[in-house]
Amino acid sequence: MYIAGLAGLGLIVLVSIYKCTSGEARLAESEQCFFCDFAHRRQGPPPILEVETDEYVIFKDKYPAARHHYLAIPKEHFDSLKALNKSHVGLVRRMEQGMMEFLRSQNVNPKEAIVGFHLPPFISVRHLHLHGIFPPADMSFGNKISFMPSFWFKKSNDAIRDLEDREL
Ligand SMILES: *[C@@H]1O[C@H](CO)[C@@H](O)[C@H](O)[C@H]1NC(C)=O
Ligand SMILES: [Zn+2]
Ligand SMILES: [Zn+2]
Repeated sequence: MYIAGLAGLGLIVLVSIYKCTSGEARLAESEQCFFCDFAHRRQGPPPILEVETDEYVIFKDKYPAARHHYLAIPKEHFDSLKALNKSHVGLVRRMEQGMMEFLRSQNVNPKEAIVGFHLPPFISVRHLHLHGIFPPADMSFGNKISFMPSFWFKKSNDAIRDLEDREL
């Protein structure tokens, strides 16, 4: 089990790095961010925006890890959590709140859901996105590892606490 876990981890690290580098190449080619396009409705069809506010949108993940898998992304482009500082605590709190409310509207108890961010270089798309996933029991072994609190995935409440400690 331990060996399998390590092998799985190695694979995820490799896949993440691969995705990340190919993502960079794509970004450099087109100088575009397709999450920015989604958030500003410059691209359709899907994803359908389940929630839209002045600051962020929520839509279904294209590759769901479980029955419910949504992404909340800000309309303003940030590469990842690393690009944020204390001045963004409010935005991240409101994104988290929006995700929790949306999960409740889908009859999901947010306390039982996985809600958090991947950390660079383990990000698949270089535009800040908050995952909301339920039920964890649906998830494959690989996804359980990919979305477990670790140096590659941070739960939203931990992310908010970290931002509060950051400099302005
Ligand atoms: C924090 O973020 C704000 C808004 O993006 C920016 O104006 C400011 O320069 C940032 N501070 C640091 C130390 O990066
Ligand atoms: Zn973007
Ligand atoms: Zn992610």
